[in-house]
Order: sequence, then C-alpha cells, then structure tokens
Amino acid sequence: MRLAISTGGGDAPGLNAVIRAATLSAIARGWTVLGIKRGYAGLLGEDEVVPLTADSVRGIAHLGGTILRTTNRGNPFEFPRLQADGTYKNFDRSDELIDNARNLGIQAIISIGGDGSLGIAQKLVDKGMRIVCVPKTIDNDVSGTVTTFGFDTAVSTAIEAIDKLHTTAESHDRVMVLEVMGRDAGFIALHSGVSGTADVVLLPEIPWKLEHVVQAIMERDRRGRKFAIVVVAEGATDESGQVSIIGESMPGQARRVGGIAQRLAHAIQEQTGKECRSMVLGHLQRGGMPTGYDRLLATRFGGAATQAVADGKWGHMVALQTPNIVTVPIKEALKEPKRVDPTHDVVRTARAVGISFGDRPAAV
Ligand code: F6P
Repeated sequence: MRLAISTGGGDAPGLNAVIRAATLSAIARGWTVLGIKRGYAGLLGEDEVVPLTADSVRGIAHLGGTILRTTNRGNPFEFPRLQADGTYKNFDRSDELIDNARNLGIQAIISIGGDGSLGIAQKLVDKGMRIVCVPKTIDNDVSGTVTTFGFDTAVSTAIEAIDKLHTTAESHDRVMVLEVMGRDAGFIALHSGVSGTADVVLLPEIPWKLEHVVQAIMERDRRGRKFAIVVVAEGATDESGQVSIIGESMPGQARRVGGIAQRLAHAIQEQTGKECRSMVLGHLQRGGMPTGYDRLLATRFGGAATQAVADGKWGHMVALQTPNIVTVPIKEALKEPKRVDPTHDVVRTARAVGISFGDRPAAV
C-alpha cells in the first residue's frame, strides 16, 4: 500500500499527532507513506509530495500546526488562479489531481480536515479516489463525532484568557467582552464561558437582546459584583440577525466572521455607564501544544484512519462515539452541521448557575 496523508483547512492543535499515528501505524503494516504538502497543492504542482518516515514524524505529537502545512484556499474543484487583469477565476483541477496521484502511485489518501475538506473528499471519492477522512476543527462543528481534536485545546486557551480577564476586570470594576472563535457554532464560547464562569455567554444558536445583557450586568452590579465577563462567539448574530464580517476573504476562502466584541462592548458601555473593554482571542486558539485530551484523540484518530484504509472504508471518516472510535460515512456527517443544542444540559446547567444567554430577563 502506498498511502498519502494531507491536511487541509485551518490548522488545529493535534494535526501532527494524527500525522504521526497514521504514519507509524501504516509503516508498521509495511506500507509506504507520503505527505502531500499544503492541502492538495502538492498534487497540483503548487507544492511537493514528500516521503513520511518514522524519522520525519519523530517528536511532533506535542507540536501545534502541521508539518505538512495547510491551506483553506485549495479546493481542487474551485481552485483560484490569478488572471492577467488581476482578478481571480476558479478552475476545476480535480482530474489533474487524480492523474497526478495515480502517476505517483498513490493508492489511498488519509485526508485530515474540517467540513470543507470532508466535502472535497466526498467529491473525489465520487470520482473514484480512495479516501478516508479524519475530522479536524477547533470549532467542533462536524456531525457524527462527539468531538474533534483541537477543540479541547481551543477551549483551554479561552478559559485561560477568561481567568486572566477576571482579575483585571475585578480590579477596575469593568465589563470585559471576550470574542472567541467557532464560526457559526457556539461550542467554544459555551464550553469556555461555563468553565471560566463568565456572566454572559452569547451564541449563534441562541438569539439575544442587548436589553437582557444589560439587565444581567446591572443586576449583578446591584448585588455588589461590580465587574462582569461576557463571552461572545464570533459568529453570534447581533440584534438585527446579522453576523459581523471582518475584512476581506482571499479568493477561494470562506467568509471571515468576527468583530462583534468591540461593537458589543461599546453598546454595553453606552447602556450601563460601566467601563467596557473588548478583546478578540483570535488565532491564539488555534496555536500551541495540543492538550493531553486532544493528543490522545488525535493519536486514536490517526491509528483508526490507517485501520479504515486497511478495511477499504473509502468515503468514511473516523469519529468518536464515546467510548469508541468508529467510522461514519462522510455523506452522513455532512448532512447537517453540528450546532449547540439550546436545550442541552450544558446550557441548562449554565442557566441554573446564573449565566445569562441574553435571551431572557435575568432573575432578580
Ligand atoms: O474553522 C476554524 C476557524 O478558526 C474559525 O473558528 C474561524 O472563524 C476561522 O477558522 C478563521 O479562519 P482564518 O484562519 O482563515 O482567519
């Protein structure tokens, strides 16, 4: 078996642990392993395909990022190319990719990526490629798996930020608004907000009103707690139902959400008269060492992906269905994106301990 591994989309802590586990377990089966650089760019003549050996994956399990590098502008079905007039045009380069993979003798691919990469993998499988996927995203928005590696690390980073914001907020009697990642899913905000004991948590999945946020903060103030911590998901819609879009995306890239924290802090300051500050945690959530949980999950996913290749599970992704690692058809996983269930026990418990989601008046 000549197996190739690729990492696509935004990086997530744990990617290297997957690469290592998949490579070592494949080598243990006597297979040859290749690494496709920068998503599929290595198969499109835009980057390299390199051998992956026991030596090349040594000492990487604890490292963030990906030794194979990645891109979120590498969809081979809509590959952006700069035109003479300075504009970009998308080209379908999937046939070229398939030919190049065949010429390199690649018999199977393990594609590690989020919803975008899963969709691309499915289309390549439909064209006859033999691909097994490993779901990856800090956003935890892929269905069919309890969680994805990278999520726990991102949440831990956000909790550390909330802990730090607490002490400065309390010293100054300020309201601190922290914006966390997650795109259209509120899992990072919910899990970090509850674990970090935020006072208000705003999610894309629970429409909120400024008046309820303000009332929760003022009610807390009345009880003598002069500071407050608000955690807002970057994809939370504002009162008009709009998601805040930050800057320009590059050609071939999904829209970039963000910027809600600053506007929210301004509005809260105006309405409460309390001093507010905002911060965007941003890509810190994607960087650094994966937590122990993520390292273990990534390693399990890597080993399971090799097994799935051995079993010929083309068009499947490995998934955690606690306590087991299973395989799930990509098509199933892509049917619906995973979102926070507003009736989930984490949300109910959060409400029970006094966290406001800004959707109803806080208890007086
Ligand atoms: O999907 C992962 C993610 O980090 C999102 O949480 C975030 O909105 C987006 O990627 C940021 O993308 P980029 O790295 O292109 O700015």
